[in-house]
Amino acid sequence: MDNFTYYNPTKLYFGRGQIAKLDEAVPRDGTTLLLYGGGSIKRNGVYEQVREALGDRTVLEYGGIEANPTYETLMGAVELARAQGVTFLLAVGGGSVLDGTKFVAAAIPFEGEPWDILRRKAPVREARPLGAVLTLPATGSEANPVAVISRRQTQEKLAFSSPLVFPRFSVLDPATTFSLPPRQVANGIVDAFTHVLEQYLTYPAHAPLQDRMAEAILLTLLEVGPKTLEDPEDYDTRATFMWCATMALNGLIGLGVPQDWATHRIGHELTALHGIDHARTLAVILPSLLRHQRQGKRAKLLQYAERVWGLTEGPEDDRVEQAIARTAAFFEQLDVPTSLRRYEAVTPDTVEAVAERLKERGFYPLGERRDIGPDDVRAILTASLAA
Ligand code: NZQ
Ligand code: ZN
Repeated sequence: MDNFTYYNPTKLYFGRGQIAKLDEAVPRDGTTLLLYGGGSIKRNGVYEQVREALGDRTVLEYGGIEANPTYETLMGAVELARAQGVTFLLAVGGGSVLDGTKFVAAAIPFEGEPWDILRRKAPVREARPLGAVLTLPATGSEANPVAVISRRQTQEKLAFSSPLVFPRFSVLDPATTFSLPPRQVANGIVDAFTHVLEQYLTYPAHAPLQDRMAEAILLTLLEVGPKTLEDPEDYDTRATFMWCATMALNGLIGLGVPQDWATHRIGHELTALHGIDHARTLAVILPSLLRHQRQGKRAKLLQYAERVWGLTEGPEDDRVEQAIARTAAFFEQLDVPTSLRRYEAVTPDTVEAVAERLKERGFYPLGERRDIGPDDVRAILTASLAA
């Protein structure tokens, strides 16, 4: 196991009715900026609960943060917050609103062009404090220091991370997610499942506890994913799904182990170029990537086959292939396609563009063994186009 430092300062209020806890969590003094998305919180009662809990605090609002939040939209919030002397940020929504709020938090006190935080990895030395009410289990943004921001003008989608943008707290009330469309629930299951696999399907690292925690999340997602799609208002199933998504990317299972974020890196380019939902990009890449990388990942793929899919018999190569095929079938069962062919806008030109963009960004080599180059990305995407 590699050395690690574990730091996660986010306080979680989990369960029914926990939005009321905003009264103890949000500072009374100063000015709070409430940030939200396209309006789902106004239709499902979340907005009313939040405003009630905030009572007579001074609150400004900034809505309209889109899925795959853009720099262009977020800079409006930065200007408002600077002009009004905002002292606390409250994100209410899905991963996009949370990520966008993290960027706003870092951009308000930033001297210079805030896009440099993403493009040039300019250090974040200061950030406004933020809290969150999460309405979509998927990204883990509610308890991690990461944000992914897009820029319309240049069709870019880039991530940054800073311990200063961990939410101070997050409210996770599973009942706020009952109103999610099935597509977003399915996306959330696939996103969380992939987050686990990218920290688990690498090579053995003498980390049996991290392995078993990862397997626990995978097995639980396999169990509750289809159930929560079928019966969206079953509270306990939805609560389990929500907790899985947080645990998948709050840093815990990735401590001291190799990680492989190649699927996410490639996926972000597909979203930037073609607007494909984040989780849907992962579903088209992951199975192809696992097949392409099956030699380097062999030991963990066999462990995954055995412990998650119960595959213990037959030739090892068959078990590896079965485990990958079942993963893809699970995504398809959730109505999330695993072939790039399903997206009309995607052509062989896309394959070339993605391979080149990753080079321009200096992201190669990818993978836990640093053995994924442009030709591998071409092969992975071409295989998905043919799948
Ligand atoms: O905008 P509103 O009207 O709120 O509607 C949203 C949006 O249209 C809707 N929604 C959210 N909660 C709802 C709801 N509709 C009904 N009822 C509710 N309770 O769902 C739609 C999608 O929301 P979005 O926030 O975009 O989805 P998600 O949570 O999947 O976030 C995706 C973004 O997170 C990034 C992705 O790249 C993408 O930009 N990621 C962030 C990560 C992180 N911070 O660690 C890691 C992830 O790998 C991911 O990259
Ligand atoms: Zn993701």
